Amino acid sequence: MSDSVIRTPDSVDFDELVDRFRQLYDAEPDGVWAAPGRVNVVGEHTDYNGGFVLPIALAQHTVAAVHRRDDSLVRVASTSMNDGAAVSVDLTDVTEGGDYGWAAYVVGVGWAAAQRDLPTTGLDIALDSNVPVGAGLSSSAALSCVIARAWSDLLGWGLDEQTVADLGRDAENKIAGAPTGLMDQLASVCGQEGHAMQIDTRAVTITQVPFDLPTAGLTLLVIDSRTEHSHADGEYAERRQSSQEAALRLGVRELRDVPLESLATTLDKLPPLLRRRARHVVTDSARVEEAGKLLLAGDDPRRIGPLLNASHASMRDDYEITVPTVDTLQEAAVAAGAHGARMTGGGFGGCVIALVDQDEAESVARACVRAAADREHPTPAIFRAVASGGADRIR
Ligand code: GLA
Repeated sequence: MSDSVIRTPDSVDFDELVDRFRQLYDAEPDGVWAAPGRVNVVGEHTDYNGGFVLPIALAQHTVAAVHRRDDSLVRVASTSMNDGAAVSVDLTDVTEGGDYGWAAYVVGVGWAAAQRDLPTTGLDIALDSNVPVGAGLSSSAALSCVIARAWSDLLGWGLDEQTVADLGRDAENKIAGAPTGLMDQLASVCGQEGHAMQIDTRAVTITQVPFDLPTAGLTLLVIDSRTEHSHADGEYAERRQSSQEAALRLGVRELRDVPLESLATTLDKLPPLLRRRARHVVTDSARVEEAGKLLLAGDDPRRIGPLLNASHASMRDDYEITVPTVDTLQEAAVAAGAHGARMTGGGFGGCVIALVDQDEAESVARACVRAAADREHPTPAIFRAVASGGADRIR
């Protein structure tokens, strides 16, 4: 339907990418790799507290055409950065605290590999992506993980998926300076079609749970508020710190160790702000376990809807990471008939996800657009999330 407000992001043209590679480097790529962005279904800010998360990998991905070099130079060009021109960094110059701009997500992977004594060589890389940037959909993990997958495959490192994700995370944490947990990278590497990943972030184990929404007559809408809080990084670091402080005061290693059963009495020991922060983390992690149980048992996915709504309320009232633009979209989606809706990702803007019956998707999407217009918020960009496969070689 041409006047639909639901618009799938344009797909990446692989042939065009390979052509661009040839023009940039006057050579053939050795191969082409892709790694997806993600949405988290439930369990937010739990991954740095040893708790549970439940992401899916998206069909939108970052794609890299790559050629192995004989020296230690990395040349990387992206359609959306630097006017498409290549940036060059010598791997031997990469150190923690260095400033490599967006190329940090690329050369950081080489640095992380060298830390593990893996043999590295330089690469020539051409990138393209249809993961929306700055929307909380992990475009950065898609980038670091596509590079980790490609490097590992090209140099025969023979790494398991978790180690590939670890390389991406190290690049982000240590070289790009983004203090993330490990949900995004694991989701980007380990995604499976038609499944969500229930990840125990302490044990680092993944249970693939059925998430075949079309068969159940459902759609997961991603509603991008198109707003990003300018202090998101500082707020993220502050939430991490509050979580650590709450755990310390409660005498536990991480908030993961606070039992749900005696939560109210346990939290009484904390001052009001930390009490709310800790309550969010413990209850959201528990919501993942509950959703995971329902989905694993083959229950109707509609039944996770109330958990999504409860998660949103918890992020809004206890963890205080939502903003009016996303609250408006969440409320509008639920009022228009979504079974459940919540903000997804780090917060302070970004996207809302809404679980809707397929035949209601358009009317829910329209209600969100209307609600945003009524409040003079930016017009949201809306697409359908499809649970897809993780990082892989595609050519
Ligand atoms: C960002 C981080 C993740 C996670 C989420 C919040 O996406 O990269 O590690 O902490 O925020 O759940």
